[in-house]
Amino acid sequence: MLGINKLPYHATLQLPSKQKKHKEIKSLDGEWMFHWSPNPEERPVLFYQDDYDVSGWDKINVPGNWQMQGYGTPIYTNISYPFQRNRPSVTSEPPQDWTAYENRNPVGSYVTFIDIDKNMLGKNLILHFGGVHSAFYVWLNGQKVGYSQNSMSPAEFDITPYALEGLNKLAVEVYRWSDGSYLEDQDMWRLSGIFRSVQLWVRPLVHVADYHVTAVPNADFSKAHVTADIAVCNTGKQEVKDIKAVLKIEGKMKEGFLRSIAAGDTTHVKITYSIDKPRLWSAEKPNLYPFSIELKTTPVEEVFEHFDNHLGVKRVECVGEVFKINGKNVKLRGVNRHDHHPRTGRYVDDATYEQDLRLMKQANINFLRTSHYPDREYLYELCDRWGIYVMDEANQESHGYGYANEEMGHDLAWQQAHVDRAESLVKRDFNHPCVILWSLGNEGGIGPNIQAMYDTVCRLDSTRLPFYDCHPRYSALHDFGYPTPDVLKAEAEKESEKPLIAREYAHAMGNSMGNLQEYWDVIYADSSIAGAAVWDWVDQGIEKISKGVKYYAYGGDFGDQPNDGPFCINGLIGPDRKPHPHYYEVQYVYQPIAFEQEGDSIRIINRDFFTDLNEYDYYCEVYYNGELVSGNIPILYGDKFGIPYPYYPYNEPELILNVYARLHQDTPWAQEGFTIAREQFILKPEEFWSAFGDTPATVQKTGKGLVAYTDRGTVTIDSSGKLISWMVDGEERLSGPLEPYFWKPENDNQHAAHFAEHSGIWRDIAAKSTSKSFRTEASDKGLKIISETTLSVGAVLTVTYTIIQDGRIKVDMDYRPTATDIPLLPKFGMRLRLPADYTNIEYYGRGPWENYPDRKRSAFVGRYQTSLSEFETEYIHPQDNGCRTDVRWLKIGTDKKTLRIDGLQPLCIRAWDYGEEDLEAASHPHEIKRGRFVNLNIDQNVHGVGGVDTWGQPTLPQYTIDGNKPYHYAILLDWI
Ligand code: GAL
Ligand code: MG
Repeated sequence: MLGINKLPYHATLQLPSKQKKHKEIKSLDGEWMFHWSPNPEERPVLFYQDDYDVSGWDKINVPGNWQMQGYGTPIYTNISYPFQRNRPSVTSEPPQDWTAYENRNPVGSYVTFIDIDKNMLGKNLILHFGGVHSAFYVWLNGQKVGYSQNSMSPAEFDITPYALEGLNKLAVEVYRWSDGSYLEDQDMWRLSGIFRSVQLWVRPLVHVADYHVTAVPNADFSKAHVTADIAVCNTGKQEVKDIKAVLKIEGKMKEGFLRSIAAGDTTHVKITYSIDKPRLWSAEKPNLYPFSIELKTTPVEEVFEHFDNHLGVKRVECVGEVFKINGKNVKLRGVNRHDHHPRTGRYVDDATYEQDLRLMKQANINFLRTSHYPDREYLYELCDRWGIYVMDEANQESHGYGYANEEMGHDLAWQQAHVDRAESLVKRDFNHPCVILWSLGNEGGIGPNIQAMYDTVCRLDSTRLPFYDCHPRYSALHDFGYPTPDVLKAEAEKESEKPLIAREYAHAMGNSMGNLQEYWDVIYADSSIAGAAVWDWVDQGIEKISKGVKYYAYGGDFGDQPNDGPFCINGLIGPDRKPHPHYYEVQYVYQPIAFEQEGDSIRIINRDFFTDLNEYDYYCEVYYNGELVSGNIPILYGDKFGIPYPYYPYNEPELILNVYARLHQDTPWAQEGFTIAREQFILKPEEFWSAFGDTPATVQKTGKGLVAYTDRGTVTIDSSGKLISWMVDGEERLSGPLEPYFWKPENDNQHAAHFAEHSGIWRDIAAKSTSKSFRTEASDKGLKIISETTLSVGAVLTVTYTIIQDGRIKVDMDYRPTATDIPLLPKFGMRLRLPADYTNIEYYGRGPWENYPDRKRSAFVGRYQTSLSEFETEYIHPQDNGCRTDVRWLKIGTDKKTLRIDGLQPLCIRAWDYGEEDLEAASHPHEIKRGRFVNLNIDQNVHGVGGVDTWGQPTLPQYTIDGNKPYHYAILLDWI
């Protein structure tokens, strides 16, 4: 059963932003009376009756999920159904440890009272539910009104026959699961209740039931043909005559005449209009034509209904294997987004929608997939206005039966349920110009039921394209999810009939999003690739407080069973909407403008189609050794400008040019001056130290090892080659030795790729290895202490400390493999522990945010001043973090004491207030044991974060460290 007494689905009649002021709409949001029962048997069956007393019940906020307000258990599962799979039943016995065993199918009983006056009684009263999970019954004044499922689409009921003057008791009984839940197996928190707004529409008896507006450009885009198909219904008891429907657009009024509508009937009227030289709608130029739809009486013309909306003129098409918008091979720079809020769950308020879309636009994202169901209407209005192409997705996923399963796709008993979800999608969002693709769902079935969805979408709308991930038969575009860059390239070369899209790629779980540029090099080079959408936008963490500490919960944190742990934490931004470091990589790689050096000029490349290069302002900065020496606005010559070489003050400094394209004027999502694209050119690279020599320190053998005496104090190196003590000005400066160290904790991507299994031998290799020799050499270059170790993997490691009289130390580390089957090195370098109060950091390298060898393009080389806590990145699921690459030097210390580290080549540095083992032992950031020391990893290289998926794909080979090759690096340490 899909519904009882539901009114037909229809388009959003009034623009969401204008609904608050619309005279026909009364909001029923607010506090409702609420009762929660763990299973249907225990529900208050007769609560809807007038004389049932609910005054002792709790109060709950509508809209809102009940689990977010203290009732029942949120459950996070990816693929498996949270209840025992046995369709259509949802109450069969599950394993005993499942949440659903005790709470077999929780029921929320809601009551509110609607005040209805005499005037309203003469009207048509429609109850509108924006979204209720998963299924519900409605009663008014003790009388049954209807039932609905399909939780992410509106449900409407005509309550006119049940309404009385005065307070009317509205009772809603919501079931956590229903047979509809078999089509709602999306990878997300499973939450319940009346989670979107409830409205009472007080409508004239004769009113607009629906209207669909199309705006189709002609072949050369010189004209657009607008058609408004308006459905007018007569809910009164008498025939009505001579009504006019009016389309107001561009200051003109076009009218359609309705001669007569019989009682209970609905009549359609078509009004057409032609726009000359239309300003086309695109994500780049979201040109809208506001219009309104009105109903008027005649012959005395009186407007009795009025709705505001807007249209956009655009064409979406596949020409052979090329995807086009307005005739251009536009690239969809995309992201997937779940409707998620850390405190209100599946209800996301307007301000958060605005924040999300502002951040998307600022990240140069032009394509949004509403994975995996329709969002609230306001989101689409924002996309219309601000310019984002939308793949609007039907609420259909039966992943628990398998990707592309035949069970749900072939079982005809489920066909109507599938079609219902396609119909509700297209009918509600038809008028939004932002929609370019209708998706039939995600990871569902294949077969006649999907074919029926496809046919429905095509029948309802010929101006957008259908899409489906499970089989190209039901899709205008061929989908290939989570390819590596090479596979994407090969797949695009193979496919010749349809454009290719990666509806999901670059799984952004935890510390990830490596090799993003590699994807886009492939995508820009092949006109048959329409684009790709990152999985996904926001970490689905739920705010939780434990012993006064706030943190974000993931699967299992509520004792929910089954659960998929932190697999819901895959966002570019945190639940609080704070961008992760990899957000900025997306911003950079997705930028619509590229810069290339051409001799003494910078050439500007436009990746957009409807925007001219001269619509931005350009700006340059020149840095010598990280210090700004000149900023200026260059003069454009066509698509080029000259490199500004200012006066060259020092001997051979590193010379860096940064260029920026900035917004010329304010937009709704960023202010004038906002950087839309940027690039960095190292015009003359750093010349790293090579010579290092001075008076050698003197040395003495002691029980602990070798002690070197300098002007500043002593340095002790033990016989295994570790620098175990560094006394400076009478004080120990180390909290742990400086030692060769090759392990780095896994990140989420590396776990399923079996990183620890393959490379785990490096974790404690030092302990398992034998020191071969330990000797000193003194020369005029300094005192050298040389330690040679045979590593158990089959390699020789030589560490050479050169200590000079003034207290500086140079460390060289050499790695020579002797075996040929050595596993990948997690990192190549050393580790050092400093006192806990050494938290001031300044460095010259890539920043300001975390970057890794495969994710560093957005992080420009510069001088950054920061603190230890800023240097770390706090991932909701603790993992390796905080690296800065291409570091020339770094200073770390207190206000008085500072250790300076210079690389004799670029360095990768991570600094934490905890050890590797502390990080690995924690499941949430607040569980990490912190503050005993500063843990500093100083490396020549580190294994990249990976950027394909989190279920097995390893980091691309060019960003790994082959254990079978020799390495050398050197650093210089000094107290300043
Ligand atoms: C995809 C799926 C998403 C999500 C993702 C893993 O295959 O479509 O819904 O589950 O995997 O995070
Ligand atoms: Mg799934």
